[in-house]
Amino acid sequence: MEKRSILVLIALIALLVFGSLALAMQEKSDTKIDKEKCLSCHGPYEKIIKATAEWTAPSGEVHSPHRYVPHDSQDIPQCTECHTQHAIPLKDKSTVVKPQDVPFCYEGCHHMKNLQPCKNCH
Ligand code: HEC
Ligand code: HEC
Ligand code: HEC
Repeated sequence: MEKRSILVLIALIALLVFGSLALAMQEKSDTKIDKEKCLSCHGPYEKIIKATAEWTAPSGEVHSPHRYVPHDSQDIPQCTECHTQHAIPLKDKSTVVKPQDVPFCYEGCHHMKNLQPCKNCH
């Protein structure tokens, strides 16, 4: 091979290596996926609400963990309040951890760790 074509080859390899490194780093820095991104695959929100309507909370109450917050609004909470994001594209479904608990609901408002309406007690 000519000296020049070897140099071109080296330059190309270097470009490939740094290119994929840059891509990998970009993937890592994108840690907090916005809810809009999750919903672009899993939405609309109503669909998830329906799919999880029979969920049983640790308190024993049956209710979808997916609610608007506050409940009389149309504000969708960030999915990462409860979920850890999964790899995209998803190759292995078993890597998706489903939350057992809903700390977001308890920390925010339901301080008795149940899902009763506030007016039951206050
Ligand atoms: C590019 C599309 C895509 C995006 C974006 C995405 N997901 Fe997924 N997600 C999938 C696919 C595909 C599955 C496999 C589920 C299936 O087979 O029904 C899955 C599975 C899940 C599951 C398990 C569902 C089940 O039936 O057990 C949860 C929970 C989940 N995703 C949450 C999230 C959250 C939270 C986000 C945002 C942080 C997110 N996903 C972003 C495509 C996506
Ligand atoms: C308050 C906590 C909480 C928030 C916020 C939340 N989730 Fe969930 N999600 C849960 C819990 C708990 C389950 C498990 C339900 C079950 O096991 O049946 C679940 C299950 C799911 C599933 C699986 C549904 C199925 O068919 O089994 C998907 C998909 C999902 N969530 C997507 C999302 C997306 C997208 C968002 C953001 C728009 C989101 N979740 C926000 C608590 C939450
Ligand atoms: C199962 C009964 C029960 C429910 C449901 C309940 N609370 Fe309470 N709440 C209590 C009790 C008991 C206290 C006093 C003891 C304490 O601070 O934990 C209290 C105290 C409070 C306080 C005062 C805390 C302080 O430090 O002074 C606030 C604010 C409050 N609750 C808000 C709410 C809101 C908002 C909801 C609905 C999301 C709610 N509570 C639902 C029983 C309840």
